[in-house]
Amino acid sequence: MCTRMLILYQLHNVKHHEVFLTVLFDIQISDNWPGYSLDLFTYPQHYYGDLEYVLIPHGIIVDRTERLAKDIMQDIGDNDIVVLCVLKGGYKFCADLVEHFKNLSRNSERFISMKVDFVRLKSYHNDQSMQDMQIIGGDDLSKLTGKNVLIVEDIVGTGRTMKVLLNNIEKYKPKMIKVASLLVKRTSRPDGYRPDYYGFEIPDLFVVGYALDYNEHFRDLNHICVINDHGKTKYRV
Ligand code: IMP
Ligand code: MG
Repeated sequence: MCTRMLILYQLHNVKHHEVFLTVLFDIQISDNWPGYSLDLFTYPQHYYGDLEYVLIPHGIIVDRTERLAKDIMQDIGDNDIVVLCVLKGGYKFCADLVEHFKNLSRNSERFISMKVDFVRLKSYHNDQSMQDMQIIGGDDLSKLTGKNVLIVEDIVGTGRTMKVLLNNIEKYKPKMIKVASLLVKRTSRPDGYRPDYYGFEIPDLFVVGYALDYNEHFRDLNHICVINDHGKTKYRV
């Protein structure tokens, strides 16, 4: 498995007997996954002191995305699809996914013929009131009638956002709708929505980087990181 990485790290030495704790980095990132020290990687200086640790390094994101692209191609290749990128958080994942589709299409018998479009979701009040969510930007959604649509999103949390978007798109009767989300958050909600494809399932933490933001900050960070209290206070609005 391409993104499975076994991390062994030494806890401490007890009278020459080394005690190891084995933590498995997997697609399902466990609640006790300690992440990687920030010192192991480079990241923008303006975020020094604002982050707790690296949850998923950039290289692993890209490698996992390549595999997702292959899986999606296997399932829906040879169709014309409309890739619908959900802005702003989905732009990095979408760009990398499309790049992999292009590479796979060039180098194999199967290919995807794609159009790429963008939507932005805005809620009138705040993220809590999704009833009032507005879909803005991109082409008229009526253009999706009869089309194979691949929605590309950064993260599914409670799933409320995705459900509202799906309800809106279904009205226009596309031929097929699939959803690819880079991340799925393990929330306590039993009715949580599960996308058709996802990169990683993560603990219920607020994460930033790789286009995911905290009040518009951290989109320029390559790795997916956990923000610390200092960062939250500094960029609070
Ligand atoms: P949901 O409606 O709870 O599923 O939330 C989904 C949306 O909230 C995503 O499209 C993100 O824009 C945003 N979001 C949820 N969790 C996070 C996070 O940990 N970091 C950054 N944005 C998040
Ligand atoms: Mg989003």
